[in-house]
Amino acid sequence: MKTIGVLTSGGDGPGMNAAIRGVVRTAVSHGMEVVGIRRGYAGLIEGDVVPLPTTWVSGIIRDGGTKLLTARSEEFKTRAGQCKAVEVLKKHGVEGLVVIGGDGSFHGAHALDHKWGIPAMGVPATIDNDIAGTDVSIGFNTAVNTALNAIDHIRDTAVSHDRIFVVEVMGRDAGFLALEVGLAGGAEHILIPEIPFSLKKIGMAIKQGIERGKVSSIIVVAEGAAKGIAVAAEIEAITGAETRATVLGHVQRGGSPTALDRILGVRLAAAAVDLLARGEHGLMVGMIANEVVSSPLETAWRKKKSVNEALYTLAETLAK
Ligand code: ADP
Ligand code: F6P
Repeated sequence: MKTIGVLTSGGDGPGMNAAIRGVVRTAVSHGMEVVGIRRGYAGLIEGDVVPLPTTWVSGIIRDGGTKLLTARSEEFKTRAGQCKAVEVLKKHGVEGLVVIGGDGSFHGAHALDHKWGIPAMGVPATIDNDIAGTDVSIGFNTAVNTALNAIDHIRDTAVSHDRIFVVEVMGRDAGFLALEVGLAGGAEHILIPEIPFSLKKIGMAIKQGIERGKVSSIIVVAEGAAKGIAVAAEIEAITGAETRATVLGHVQRGGSPTALDRILGVRLAAAAVDLLARGEHGLMVGMIANEVVSSPLETAWRKKKSVNEALYTLAETLAK
């Protein structure tokens, strides 16, 4: 294999640049050249391809976002879109492709690999951490720390004002981010889509707490479980206590990656390139119990990743 391509796709996440660096420098160590495809599958269809010499990745390990830019592309889901993409890859002599993104992006990689014969590998990167086949995806740890920092700030004002705060965090349909942020931030309640909850019961518990003298509380809500503003209105109606909602939003997607995300990014990317160099493809790499593993790309959508309910129980116990 002489030339490989790399692209980032779907939502960006801190650590994607570390992964790009891992791809480029590992490929160079195998004597391969690397081209970067800008703006994910949208850029691939348009032929937005740039050479990635080893100097291109100098210093990017510390940067948030993705230097290759990212996008979502409806056209790539069609046969015509994929046909254009394959022509571009062939034109640039790309014999293998590393896709850094979430499970949607892996669907695309799977199509290129299985339907069009382009050897492709997936490197899991999403702050949602909802990809089976890996304990953790690139970007998750940084997002947890960013949201945690915000919650620590909110705790200061919640305590000072005797207020209840509802903090809505990202995660799409999954509660991984909310659960870890809630546990680390000492949240009194955590609402995630995977575990049923009753706002009435939570409201009553807070009300009883207020009667005992516990005047401020933080409720962390996963965006996939409920709207933070609606939860705040209902809690205020039940408790009669001043309740504010904060939606953390895209702040959680940015920032310099933590050491954990940088190390994860370079390890997974290097493994993906090593596998491609050995002639393997159609796989996603992952980190399980701190060991790099690989599994079929389909793992990302065929297997459902479960939240660790023991963490949820622990958070409940500690909040009492
Ligand atoms: P993520 O990779 O973070 O899950 P998306 O679900 O938005 O993000 O997917 C990113 C891109 O992957 C989509 O915009 C589309 O171009 C491509 N993609 C998603 N699903 C498919 C599919 N079933 N077939 C081909 N490409 C897909
Ligand atoms: O998948 C990452 C994510 O940040 C989700 O947590 C969130 O629901 C979604 O992307 C937001 O997407 P957009 O950036 O298109 O608003």
